[in-house]
Amino acid sequence: MPHLKIAVLGSGKGSNFRAILSAIMAGHLRVTPVLAASDVADAGILNLAENLGIPTTVINEPKFRTRLSEEVESKLVEELQASGAELIVLAGYMRLVKSPLLEAFPRRIINIHPSLLPSFPGLEAWRQALTAGVKMTGCTVHFVDSGMDTGEIIGQSEVSILPGDTPETLHARIQEAEHELYPEVLARFARRELP
Ligand code: GRF
Repeated sequence: MPHLKIAVLGSGKGSNFRAILSAIMAGHLRVTPVLAASDVADAGILNLAENLGIPTTVINEPKFRTRLSEEVESKLVEELQASGAELIVLAGYMRLVKSPLLEAFPRRIINIHPSLLPSFPGLEAWRQALTAGVKMTGCTVHFVDSGMDTGEIIGQSEVSILPGDTPETLHARIQEAEHELYPEVLARFARRELP
């Protein structure tokens, strides 16, 4: 079976992309990253990709902070299509995805979120869980739709909230769970078990 071609989009430090790359290098994941894209010029995912010779692109969006303008997103779609990516993997991408991208890749955009959705969508979900006083949180991989963290759930992993947890300690443990879950879900796509 040929490797699954993915493009990764992120705005932050890139620890999930690092975990995916580690799983590929360990031979656990029949996936080939064909493009890394970021709306932040010094984002971690761009450095990781450059070091491995994976093509990168910087998305320049001067108008909006929480989404891309239609023309900028359409240009990104062209680059993603030209890369041959079959699946778009959001890893810390901090903007809402709008129709140019959603229509170009129906059910082929996934995201990882640091809570057990549908609980705690949106920003700093680990902090929301602590404030709410729940005993259990975790992380979720889901298909991306036009809402914020609302798409169909593909996989979840639970993380207990411990006495004395701070937002930082809890976030760190959730990220460890993310680094296991995202490669596991990608392996299911690579085995063509998911549509
Ligand atoms: C993760 O916690 C993910 O759940 C959220 O953004 C963060 C990205 O972290 N969507 P990283 O850039 O992969 O380290």
